Amino acid sequence: MHTVLVTGSNRGIGLEFCRQLQRRGDQVIAVCREVSAELSALDVRIESGIDLLHESDRSQLVARLNGVGLDRVILNAGILEACELDDLDPDSIRRQFELNALAPLALSRALLDRLSPGAKLALMTSRMGSIDDNTSGGSYGYRMSKVALNMAGKSLAIDLKPRGIAVAILHPGLVRTRMIQFNPHGVMPQEAVRGLLDRLDQLTLETSGTFWHANGDVLPW
Ligand SMILES: NC(=O)c1ccc[n+]([C@@H]2O[C@H](COP(=O)([O-])OP(=O)(O)OC[C@H]3O[C@@H](n4cnc5c(N)ncnc54)[C@H](OP(=O)(O)O)[C@@H]3O)[C@@H](O)[C@H]2O)c1
Repeated sequence: MHTVLVTGSNRGIGLEFCRQLQRRGDQVIAVCREVSAELSALDVRIESGIDLLHESDRSQLVARLNGVGLDRVILNAGILEACELDDLDPDSIRRQFELNALAPLALSRALLDRLSPGAKLALMTSRMGSIDDNTSGGSYGYRMSKVALNMAGKSLAIDLKPRGIAVAILHPGLVRTRMIQFNPHGVMPQEAVRGLLDRLDQLTLETSGTFWHANGDVLPW
């Protein structure tokens, strides 16, 4: 049984993480801005009112943990906003960068004292943050933010290895959530999260810092 903190827990992939972790007997701490009916139906500890864009909310979350140790931290919250070359919105690019890249790095740092040797950190990134894999262009804010998150994940893997903490940099696949308007070509969150949990379970200090698809493929940077 592990104590697992999950951000973006009120819907989509984060909600499904909470559901599957709770089902297998883990102690879940679900972090969100607003509680959803689906989340409150789960028997998990909920920390709501946390907007991860705000440093003060991140600090409040750490304070609310009140010394609780964490075995797994799944930093999953994210936003995708359209941002094409003819329509560049600097505020949108900054917002995506702050939530998708800066907030997970800052929260990882803030939670370090709660993590012991053997703990694991998962960063929910995207294949859209792969430079090698970019064949379609566009999506400037999202792509730039996820490249930055990937780099943060790689540095965290190196910096946290001496502390015995492993880091997974995870792409969930195309998943049928509100982020992609429930695109029917996506897999269901249940399938994506089963794969993501396998990646996290199999993660070791030796494989720390790898960029994985939920299906186990190692993705190019
Ligand atoms: N779905 C896909 O195909 C796909 C593909 C690649 C990567 N991903 C990544 O997977 C992760 C989860 O995505 P999803 O598909 O589950 O998307 P989603 O259904 O849109 O869920 C996004 C989650 O992030 C939370 N969030 C947004 N802004 C926040 C903020 N300022 N503070 C705190 N929480 C905030 C949302 O909470 P609110 O309800 O409060 O907004 C929600 O819980 C994201 O990092 C995403 O980039 C998804």
